[in-house]
Amino acid sequence: MTIPSDFLWGAATAAYQIEGSPLADGAGASIWHRFVHTPGLVRDGDTGDVACDHYRRWAGDVALMRQLGLKAYRFSVSWSRILPGGIGAVNSVGLDFYVRLVDALLENGIEPLVTLYHWDLPAALDDRGGWLNPEISNWFADYAAVMFRRLDGCVKKWVTLNEPWVVSDGGYLHGALAPGHRNRFEAPIASHNLLRAHGAAVQAYRAEGRHQIGLVVNLEPKYKASDDPADIAATARADAYMNRQYLDPAILGSYPEEMADIFGEAWPDWPAHDLALIRQRIDFLGINYYTRNVTRFDPDAWPLKARAVRQKQSTYTETGWEVFAPALTDTLLWVKSRYGEIPLYITENGAAFFDPPVSPKGGINDALRVDYLREHIVAVHEAIRRGVDVRGYMVWSLLDNLEWSLGYSKRFGIVHVDFESQRRTPKESAHFYSKVIASNGTILGAEAS
Ligand code: BGC
Repeated sequence: MTIPSDFLWGAATAAYQIEGSPLADGAGASIWHRFVHTPGLVRDGDTGDVACDHYRRWAGDVALMRQLGLKAYRFSVSWSRILPGGIGAVNSVGLDFYVRLVDALLENGIEPLVTLYHWDLPAALDDRGGWLNPEISNWFADYAAVMFRRLDGCVKKWVTLNEPWVVSDGGYLHGALAPGHRNRFEAPIASHNLLRAHGAAVQAYRAEGRHQIGLVVNLEPKYKASDDPADIAATARADAYMNRQYLDPAILGSYPEEMADIFGEAWPDWPAHDLALIRQRIDFLGINYYTRNVTRFDPDAWPLKARAVRQKQSTYTETGWEVFAPALTDTLLWVKSRYGEIPLYITENGAAFFDPPVSPKGGINDALRVDYLREHIVAVHEAIRRGVDVRGYMVWSLLDNLEWSLGYSKRFGIVHVDFESQRRTPKESAHFYSKVIASNGTILGAEAS
């Protein structure tokens, strides 16, 4: 294996999915707090009120990370703990939580990667229009600056947004995620304001910060189901919508031409000064990769007229995602060829499977997840071998957690969480991953030969 010796092996989480205590110590409500407490929106009525109780158990969780040998931990900050009203007065008790966490990580030799926005918008800002209000770029940059001023001495890698596509698609187009809107006119506006907020936060960082800042997108390569021109065009639309809608403006300064075709009259003509704000130099790009799609034209699929075709021979995860590791190599090669030389991190990769029960010896043999991780890490290595500058890999997720509107029904953790007792049990995948880290990936080379 040719993995660089300073490769960042880590695991990722997000505030609302693990912390619990969402209103503790003066925090304001977020849109997720509201969403989960609206009857019928989340499976089994699950909420993040307790989640993994990480807000209180963070020290034990850091000890666990050290035990696993993680070199990095990617987590997100809850905006409404820092600024309960989204703007205005800083809640220093909320800020202190993250200061303590970062200090503990550093004491344990674990590098923090801090995401400023992983979907939990302060509810007070949603009341002012949320991502539909163009003012949000200033709100976000102000919040980001509070974090930079307090933590840039210790945090060397910042992420503005996690997966703007999901925020817009789930939150404003299809409505399965907070704030739960379903509106073709809103989705492009939300996307555009997310990008403007990203640009404004990067600008704020250039004024305040001394280290690195980047963006995290979820990429899902689209493969045409056939050579039928309708399938080819559908594949291009799906690819533009999911894979290029954010990276093109952020890195190249323009939206993909397919966007107007997809949204029709709902696609505005964006001003050039917005695109200039959006296109800021970033220090790295984070890629979240879970699956690919084989895409076919479907006139009834709204609004893309494209849908994924199920692959009979493939394994699917519990979230219905095809396991297909070679597409991760393809994705990394594609990013390099389209967007140029930019340091890349896999900021999320993982899978939900039904885990077997705890064995009499206390172990959890999650063999499917071990296979998934092995294949995907090998796929990352293949991209590095072919010249892509990949500098780290973070498993999603450290802990089983609240899978958004699917509640606790889907487990992504390499560490099992018993939500009754809050007991943490590293699964076989955690032990496997520890060995990968300790050998800097060489055990995979050995296994493969
Ligand atoms: C998100 C996570 C989520 C995971 C699995 C990503 O889209 O960043 O918050 O839990 O995928 O669905």
